[in-house]
Amino acid sequence: MKVVLLGAPGAGKGTHCRRVADRYGVAHLSSGDILRRERAEGTELGKKAQSFMDAGALVPDDLIVEMMTRAIRKAPAAGYVLDGFPRTVKQAEVLDQSLAAYDDGMDMVINLLVDDGVVLERITGRRSCPACGAVYHVKNMPPKVDGICDNDGTPLVQRPDDTEEVVRNRLETYYRQTEPVVGYYKTRRAVHDIDANQDADSAAAEVFQKVDPLVKEK
Ligand code: AP5
Repeated sequence: MKVVLLGAPGAGKGTHCRRVADRYGVAHLSSGDILRRERAEGTELGKKAQSFMDAGALVPDDLIVEMMTRAIRKAPAAGYVLDGFPRTVKQAEVLDQSLAAYDDGMDMVINLLVDDGVVLERITGRRSCPACGAVYHVKNMPPKVDGICDNDGTPLVQRPDDTEEVVRNRLETYYRQTEPVVGYYKTRRAVHDIDANQDADSAAAEVFQKVDPLVKEK
């Protein structure tokens, strides 16, 4: 199964990709998470990506394409769900070309639609666990104990690019460089829109409703 979830920052790509990965036993390939790991490990790629990420701009296509192609090659036979990639038309083209070498491309493209006001509220309230990667929201999805991860008791942290100023830049970058990816896919295959303003469980139920038939087809 090869599924891609598109959407603005804070649309819930990470939240729903994690649920899809758990439900269908596929890999969750998040370009943002991989970049943050590279930064934490102090790799060459992490150092190159740092200033772009902190400013809410995109990391150059060549670096991302190489990083994500490597991750896709290592994915299990069950497949993967892509989170945060492709994020430019160039990245989508390269992905399609590399998939065409083996099969007929992505099985499903899902587009999470969310309002800008909701994005700001969600992202500034997001907290995550630096140990296991679990994501919470101070109001919408709080941990059982304030500021502590339910899974492993680690203190939760806020991402450095989750300030209001950087979120506004990320949104601007989204509309300029990433929204055209939705148009790119729409000219080639069905794109399934989901209302991502609704609560996470309702949005997840709609995502599963779209993806379930893929499992039955295989
Ligand atoms: P990345 O980490 O991909 O950030 P993003 O796209 O801005 O997306 P987010 O992770 O902020 O949001 P999300 O949609 O995953 O929402 P989440 O589920 O966490 O990228 C970071 C940076 O890396 C980029 O700015 C760029 O510099 C670089 N980069 C990454 N990929 C790249 C690429 N391909 N090319 C170039 N550069 C790249 O949810 C947000 C919050 O809301 C959480 O607290 C969650 O609990 C809550 N929430 C989610 N859904 C709901 C709901 N339905 N109801 C209530 N609360 C909800």
